[in-house]
Amino acid sequence: MKGSLLTTKALLLFLNCVMIIELMGHLMVIEVYGANSMATNHGSSGRLLHENQHHGSNSNNHLLKRKMQTIKDSIAARPSTLISPSPNLAPSTGHITGSRVYHVTSYGADPTGKTDSTEALLKAFSEASKSISNGFLIDGINNLGGVEIHLNGGIYLISRPLQFPTAYIGNILIHGGTLKASDNFATDRYLIELSVSSSSQSNQENTTSSPNQKLSTSTAAYNFEYITFRDLMLDCNYKGGGIAVANSLRIGIDNCYIVHFMSEGIRVDGGHETMIRSSYLGQHITAGSDPGEKNFTGTGISLAGNDNVVSDVIVFSADTGIILSGQANLLSGVHLYNKATGFGGTGIYLKLAGLTQTRIVNSYLDYTGIVAEDPVQLIIANNFFLGDAFISFKSVKGVANGVNIVDNIFSGSGNGIDIVQLNGPFGDVDEILVDRNSVKGMNVKATVAKVAVQGNGSSWTADFRKILLFPNLIKHVQYTLSTSGNAFPNYALRNVSENQVVIESNVPATTSVYVMVDQGFGS
Ligand SMILES: *[C@@H]1O[C@H](CO)[C@@H](O)[C@H](O)[C@H]1NC(C)=O
Ligand SMILES: *[C@@H]1O[C@H](CO)[C@@H](O)[C@H](O)[C@H]1NC(C)=O
Ligand SMILES: *[C@@H]1O[C@H](CO)[C@@H](O)[C@H](O)[C@H]1NC(C)=O
Ligand SMILES: *[C@@H]1O[C@H](CO)[C@@H](O)[C@H](O)[C@H]1NC(C)=O
Repeated sequence: MKGSLLTTKALLLFLNCVMIIELMGHLMVIEVYGANSMATNHGSSGRLLHENQHHGSNSNNHLLKRKMQTIKDSIAARPSTLISPSPNLAPSTGHITGSRVYHVTSYGADPTGKTDSTEALLKAFSEASKSISNGFLIDGINNLGGVEIHLNGGIYLISRPLQFPTAYIGNILIHGGTLKASDNFATDRYLIELSVSSSSQSNQENTTSSPNQKLSTSTAAYNFEYITFRDLMLDCNYKGGGIAVANSLRIGIDNCYIVHFMSEGIRVDGGHETMIRSSYLGQHITAGSDPGEKNFTGTGISLAGNDNVVSDVIVFSADTGIILSGQANLLSGVHLYNKATGFGGTGIYLKLAGLTQTRIVNSYLDYTGIVAEDPVQLIIANNFFLGDAFISFKSVKGVANGVNIVDNIFSGSGNGIDIVQLNGPFGDVDEILVDRNSVKGMNVKATVAKVAVQGNGSSWTADFRKILLFPNLIKHVQYTLSTSGNAFPNYALRNVSENQVVIESNVPATTSVYVMVDQGFGS
């Protein structure tokens, strides 16, 4: 088993070498080069490969050879198609012939940010979108192969949203610079909009699209797929928002810095699988304790769609850090220190009453908390809540079901703040687990609790009113009684109400009573 694993590893390594050489176009030196690189450059793995080649089983060697032959055949069958120039790509000043990197400065964009570059940037977007495609991503989305719109490290002033003139395209990278909204930028728009724009379509001159790009007749279920925004700064200049993604699939927003938005830094409507990662968002550029914090408005990220991921993202200034109104989104490694709860701000707002289906993990809620409307299926785990930040259940129809709030750290300043709070009545509660949180300087709230009562009589009351989250709700009780005297008293559970448990014995006795209650399970 181990041997065959090693052989598989070695085979993969070898194939990697072959692939690299294939890409370099030096087919004639595959074996020599490959063997060298394996022997010298890959340390123990390389040595293992050699051992396997010499001593390994015949079937493995056959497999290796067959695989090599397959690769060589496939290379021979498509000579030099890897970087073929597009035959009917309209030559323009925007890029080197044959290259598919569209440099915006080549279209006259002003990288100093002094003059308006909207037209130049739209031209680059338009030309990039008209690159020859090859096949499809998901049905109906033309694969543009990784075409790049390169911002050349400049700052560009724009007065209108940047959009592609057509939809149904994908595999595009936009990167490497700053966009800034001009003073007359519309307050209800976004610097970049991934949506089908009717206005820009009618404004554009007729395109010379190739036969395989019958874009307008596409039956694709999504507008765009696999468009990546990377290493971009978006300065909304206190006008509109940063990036709006509508009905799209597999959009990546990566290492972006989005500031001065009034509406949202990023907004996603419909579609799914947008990934927002390693990015920073803030209305004001600040690093905490900002004198203007009470005045922060806007939302860092709004996800009105399903199956998206926000990971390793910081929202440092906004009224609300992240609003979710679609299910199955994952928030992980998010650090929110937008407007503090004390000033009316919210870290994460789950506007998903009745069907939440959200996971918030490994995140840092820094003086700003989480609000969940009627949470149903919600996990909040392994997070750090600092500065009296807490979780609030907001009642819409009073339903809370299938919620785990576990293994979080809560740290406060002794102001008597409960770590989880109910905002409004909850009458329909089941399967709620609030437990195992580490709490300092705040009031623990839980749905599972244990109490020990000592006494020297025949009645003992275990009072859970302080710790239990839901009022007057105990679904399950377990208890035991320990006595040190000679008596063996009969004892019974007499009363469970108002989050108190009463146990009585037939004779007075010096006793410890241990009681455990659960609000979460049973009905
Ligand atoms: C664009 O093409 C359509 C036909 O596809 C034509 O009716 C229209 O006049 C053209 N517009 C321009 C501005 O060339
Ligand atoms: C906050 O807003 C109020 C009213 O809009 C204004 O008077 C105040 O100066 C602002 N504070 C800061 C620090 O910007
Ligand atoms: C409990 O009561 C008994 C008599 O009823 C007495 O002997 C004992 O000292 C008491 N123990 C305590 C801890 O008060
Ligand atoms: C149980 O305790 C509550 C107060 O906690 C009281 O109102 C109620 O009458 C008690 N029920 C019984 C059966 O003693």
